Amino acid sequence: MSTASAAGTDGNQRKVFIKTYGCQMNVYDSQRMGEVLGGRGYAVTDTAYGADLVILNTCHIREKAAEKVYSELGRLRLMKDQAGGAMKIAVAGCVAQAEGEEIVRRAPVVDLVFGPQTYHRLPELLDEQAETGSAVVETEFPADEKFDALDAPAGAKMLKRGVAAFLTVQEGCDKFCTFCVVPYTRGAEFSRPAQRIVAEARQLVDAGVREITLLGQNVNGWHGEGLDGGSWTLGHLLDELSAIDGLERLRYTTSHPRDMDDALIAAHGSNPKVMPYLHLPVQSGSDRILKAMNRKHTARSYNDLVARIRAARPDIAMSSDFIVGFPGETDDDFEATMQLVRGVTYAQAFSFKYSPRPGTPAAGHYGQVPEDVKSDRLARLQALLGAQQADFNNACVGRTLDVLLEKPGRKAGQLVGRSPYLQSVFLEAGHRSIGETVRVEITGTGPNSLTGHMVDA
Ligand code: SAH
Ligand code: SF4
Ligand code: F3S
Repeated sequence: MSTASAAGTDGNQRKVFIKTYGCQMNVYDSQRMGEVLGGRGYAVTDTAYGADLVILNTCHIREKAAEKVYSELGRLRLMKDQAGGAMKIAVAGCVAQAEGEEIVRRAPVVDLVFGPQTYHRLPELLDEQAETGSAVVETEFPADEKFDALDAPAGAKMLKRGVAAFLTVQEGCDKFCTFCVVPYTRGAEFSRPAQRIVAEARQLVDAGVREITLLGQNVNGWHGEGLDGGSWTLGHLLDELSAIDGLERLRYTTSHPRDMDDALIAAHGSNPKVMPYLHLPVQSGSDRILKAMNRKHTARSYNDLVARIRAARPDIAMSSDFIVGFPGETDDDFEATMQLVRGVTYAQAFSFKYSPRPGTPAAGHYGQVPEDVKSDRLARLQALLGAQQADFNNACVGRTLDVLLEKPGRKAGQLVGRSPYLQSVFLEAGHRSIGETVRVEITGTGPNSLTGHMVDA
């Protein structure tokens, strides 16, 4: 038996380091993995040095994201050698799901591979690996079993969350956009029951959380039996959650334009705890490209939807995702995207060069766009989006915004919080502390943040 695991059985806590790539759902999953392992005597640490177990919770969305995993495994191999082989290395998340056995072939240093739907079984999988001494690969989709297991934790304690926390309410995707791996890595759409979500939200609020972001690959497709026995969609769920005392703010991400129903749009107007910020990916402004992407919406239907949302909540800050250089995208198609952006005006956005992903239909499409054309389009789009973001931030100067204080700022005495529009706001907080919401007059803007001072302190 190795020294490290002997220390574990001596009663000294074993240590797990979890490195998270990709989207917010991976952040949430990493926290839950930490909790599952907490029930088995592991403490979460913030460095791989000296850890008994290192988990890479990976992302497969673009080639670059997936390749990062292998360079990290190279570094970990050296560390494992230095530790005399005592360190166990696991690959979790979407690369694990997509590549399975291939990971162990390419990186034999890996002891365990498990997908996003099986991490509740981590303790058993670790036992199996220890018993057999060879790599274990688990990438099944045990239907709906994960959350049942996670909701009934044996001796697991909730890890500390801070003021703002994520809560997965929906997982998986049935939309099959032709560029995207998510339907293959996360499986079919599944909504957690309302009752479980409300219980988890209460637990978070009891632990000091003031803002909850509901997560799902298609979060606005969430639906289920409500607490009143009726059939609920996300708008109802937000209303139910907003009744929790001590919970001040609700957000949700990521939404698909096709699933924005009237009740959800109405919630933006009627529920003061639902923050005036919406991430609503459009991907492209060209109907031809949207069709080839299988997005199930047009530029027109998206614009109409944004107009309805703004009618419900005029000050809402819009955010989006864009892909440039999808196969077949012409200069005119790209111009249509620029046109859409000029029309909507975004407060914030993410934009990417199309990355062909193995197993997705678009990877085999004709008309792959050359890299230099993609780079040029991305630069032009990002310049426009960056200017819109700066305009939005500048327009906040002179306004007074509610800021939820989240953590210490860069300087002594300074705290940083979030505006309703998700901007970071730096301020001198005096005697006010983390977790409080303060009124702040905005006095300046930085590249990615605002500064201000408290009014009525
Ligand atoms: N479920 C969400 C987000 C999925 S992934 C949605 O429906 O919008 C996040 C973003 O990554 C996507 O919105 C898309 O803009 C981008 N993306 C996904 N696959 C990609 C690919 N193959 N190449 C480049 N960007 C991609
Ligand atoms: Fe991917 Fe499209 Fe599903 Fe979003 S809606 S996760 S982009 S397939
Ligand atoms: Fe990446 Fe999987 Fe999230 S591919 S974006 S970690 S759902």
